[in-house]
Amino acid sequence: MTPPTGTVTPYPLDNTADGADAHHHGLAHLLDNFSQHRLAGLRDWSGAHVLEVGCGKGSFARRLADMVGDSGHVTATDLKPPALDHDRITVIQHDLTSDTALPAGPFDGVHTRLVLQHLPTREDILDRLIAVLRPGGVLIEEAWRPVRVNPVVAAPDPDSRYLYERFAHASGRIFDDAGTDPHWAKQVPTAMENRGLTNVDTVIHGSFWRGGDPAARMVAGTIPQLADGLLAKGFTTADIDAVLELLHNPALKVESHLLYSTSGYVPQR
Ligand SMILES: C[S@@+](CC[C@H](N)C(=O)[O-])C[C@H]1O[C@@H](n2cnc3c(N)ncnc32)[C@H](O)[C@@H]1O
Repeated sequence: MTPPTGTVTPYPLDNTADGADAHHHGLAHLLDNFSQHRLAGLRDWSGAHVLEVGCGKGSFARRLADMVGDSGHVTATDLKPPALDHDRITVIQHDLTSDTALPAGPFDGVHTRLVLQHLPTREDILDRLIAVLRPGGVLIEEAWRPVRVNPVVAAPDPDSRYLYERFAHASGRIFDDAGTDPHWAKQVPTAMENRGLTNVDTVIHGSFWRGGDPAARMVAGTIPQLADGLLAKGFTTADIDAVLELLHNPALKVESHLLYSTSGYVPQR
């Protein structure tokens, strides 16, 4: 059951857990090129001061540090932040669901990806992200619209297809039960417009991936943390082992979730 807005529940994955490196490596492989290209189209980033919120293992904070160049700076936050040794990146431990203030900025850009959708107080967090932008600054909020119905494009056999589709559905439900909103990605443009942001625009990115790819290893990396939830939803340990084996089989081809990348600018005064 999805908790009501305002109820704070923990994000169901942990950056320090077994499999977290594979999970974040897969996210970076699937999404960093797209996100970088998307941001590059929004402004000239050289010299900019940027806030990267919920930076995970920090791969995109490093991309931003390249984009802002020697005269710019990146502040990267996370609940469980990485150790990033980089002259142009400051890493801060910050819980978005707490009352602790975000770094004050003001920032030229705020980027966040695959974070707000997991946090039931996402509307309040959006207000706080906009508040640290300077006039003319740009907010980029990237969220997945999950593909949970018929995600399998090709499978080694019908049983494997059925097993993976059951897994995709059940693992999605585990996130929903913890407060992830699968519809948030589509609501972001209106949420930005309602807050007075201008030139609000959304670009959608998706791809197919195969067993053995970094994206498949990303999914496999989440399974140690989802195993109890899968067992509670009727999976057996043999089912879970079979999903892990399938994720190494290149005969499995899956449609990724769709990344909705929405940007909007704070009006100039
Ligand atoms: C799916 S990962 C996305 C990581 C990165 N943004 C990316 O797209 O590659 C979600 C991130 O949100 C962070 N997170 C979860 N709850 C948080 C909270 N309450 N405050 C700050 N960060 C949080 C997690 O620690 C994790 O790094």
